[in-house]
Amino acid sequence: MCGIFGVCGKVFSSSVDQCIAGLKKLEYRGYDSSGIALFDKGAIQVVKSTGKVHHLEEKISHLKSLKTVSIAHTRWATHGGVVEANAHPHVDSENSLALVHNGIIENFFEIKLQLEKKGVLFRSQTDTEVIAHLFTDLYDGDLLGTMQRLLARLDGSFAIACIHKNHPDSLIVTKRDKPLTIAKDATLGQVLVTSDRNALYGGEFLTLDLEDNQVALLDQNAIQLFERDSSKIFPNFEPFTVKDTPHFKGEYSHFMLKEIFEQPSAIRRTLEGRYDLEGNRVLLNLPKAFEETFETVSKIALIGCGTSYHAACIAAHFLEELLGISAEAYIASEYRYRESLSDATTLVIAISQSGETADTIAALREAKKRKAKVLSITNVPYSSIIRDSDFHLMTQAGQEISVCSTKAFTSQLLLLYLLSLQMYQFRNGSLPFENNWIQNLRTLPSLIESLLQRKNLIEAIAAETQGFEKILFIGRQYMYYTALESSLKLKEINYTFSLSYPAGELKHGPLALIDENTLTVALLGNRTTFHKTISNVQEIQARNGKIFAVHQKDQNLDEISPDYSFSIDAPIPEQLLPILYAVALQLYAFYSALKKGHDIDHPKNLAKSVTVE
Ligand code: M6R
Repeated sequence: MCGIFGVCGKVFSSSVDQCIAGLKKLEYRGYDSSGIALFDKGAIQVVKSTGKVHHLEEKISHLKSLKTVSIAHTRWATHGGVVEANAHPHVDSENSLALVHNGIIENFFEIKLQLEKKGVLFRSQTDTEVIAHLFTDLYDGDLLGTMQRLLARLDGSFAIACIHKNHPDSLIVTKRDKPLTIAKDATLGQVLVTSDRNALYGGEFLTLDLEDNQVALLDQNAIQLFERDSSKIFPNFEPFTVKDTPHFKGEYSHFMLKEIFEQPSAIRRTLEGRYDLEGNRVLLNLPKAFEETFETVSKIALIGCGTSYHAACIAAHFLEELLGISAEAYIASEYRYRESLSDATTLVIAISQSGETADTIAALREAKKRKAKVLSITNVPYSSIIRDSDFHLMTQAGQEISVCSTKAFTSQLLLLYLLSLQMYQFRNGSLPFENNWIQNLRTLPSLIESLLQRKNLIEAIAAETQGFEKILFIGRQYMYYTALESSLKLKEINYTFSLSYPAGELKHGPLALIDENTLTVALLGNRTTFHKTISNVQEIQARNGKIFAVHQKDQNLDEISPDYSFSIDAPIPEQLLPILYAVALQLYAFYSALKKGHDIDHPKNLAKSVTVE
């Protein structure tokens, strides 16, 4: 959630400019507040600001000429409200050090009490300030030794970067269960530290992902790497090229809208090279070891959070239908505590756009402890989830900037369909005879393009339904999971209390919520249960509820005459329809939020990458 960026070594241009540029690229991780610490005239200067990084930028123009070791941070509040005092960097009582932190110190309260007994006065409500004071309490002139002793005292997950006034050329970093990358500019020699490689500027780098409990001491001359027991190890850097891809919205007003419109190309890229049309085969190029593992698998658990969990639900249904194997989707933060659910015959499919979601990481590690094999699906290369998995596949959605996930979701679905078909092919030698799956998957990009061309119709419905404060999404089977996802979009950016229910379940309770002020979005994509869902819609209408029907063009809606409707023309198997329905309702959420004037790309209280449990 929080993002760390630091500069040291042969700093060749304004540290402030470099940190601001890095923070802006990390802002997707959290955008409550930000701050920077650097050396000015022998002392540590700290500047912080609440709000977006540009607010910090406005406050630090007086430090712009400095080319010093510096650390910077963008925050997503965990301990303590969004006020400047809680923003990072945090300092000790004498201002002798400043540090930034991503993660949670689980034993912070206990350490805080111990330090308070020694007379330390705390100025913030954060767990991070505890680290700053503890560092000073343990400090004996040796940065490395102090960091090692600090590590022994901290419980929880963290990435930490620290500067100290007695070591003005040095930057010391460590981590446990949170990512931290060291990147050395191959040409200029400058060294950067970052929570995420996406924050690097364009160029050639030598990079190293710190392992848990390692400490790195960085300065003008060297990058020294140490294990927890203080033994020095040779840092194995790998070349890494960054193509500077500035975050441009182009012709679009928002990243979310841009990313909605990028879905046809994201899906084309995710499909590319992964099938043989003539041979009617899926070619995911999974290693032989995966095929062998799959032979021993008796059940599949798909795990994820938020939108990725919804992709898991759809895929679980499809896998079970196609393969006749037990496949269940689980919310990662719940799965990790369900001990009996994984064993050596379980295949866990971990789904995550960012590859950094703490709940998903924790769940997959638990599953691995119980000998399950893990295949992950992520959109971000070099992510923690990839490192922790036995096998992995990448969606090719391109960087998703908007917190509200769109193209990552539909690309995940596409890849999950392919994976399911690949598994079928492993078990049966060829793809199923019925449904020309590959051909149908290939038609999706153009079907999405046609749908996007009709965005004005959805925009008009969003305007007309602005007044509803209660919005219910219903569907059956695949459409129910799509309803979950569509309702999440609305909560996330429109801030509307919205529920999603399997259509058949309404009569068991939620029907009591229905009145003339309730809008029900009925997802009518399911062909097999269409008539049953229509009956459920009628039950809502009988209680004066209003209906927005999203349906197939060839479905006759005379029976219900919905208040609002949007038709989708998609002659493809109903299992693939979630992609199209999701796109239509992404547009609905977007235009509804736009009408309300919300900060759509940065919804309140949220962050793109959720790295706390
Ligand atoms: O990076 P991940 O896919 O693991 O993220 C999981 C969720 O935090 C994420 O999908 C979240 O629900 C989205 N912001 C929803 O649009």
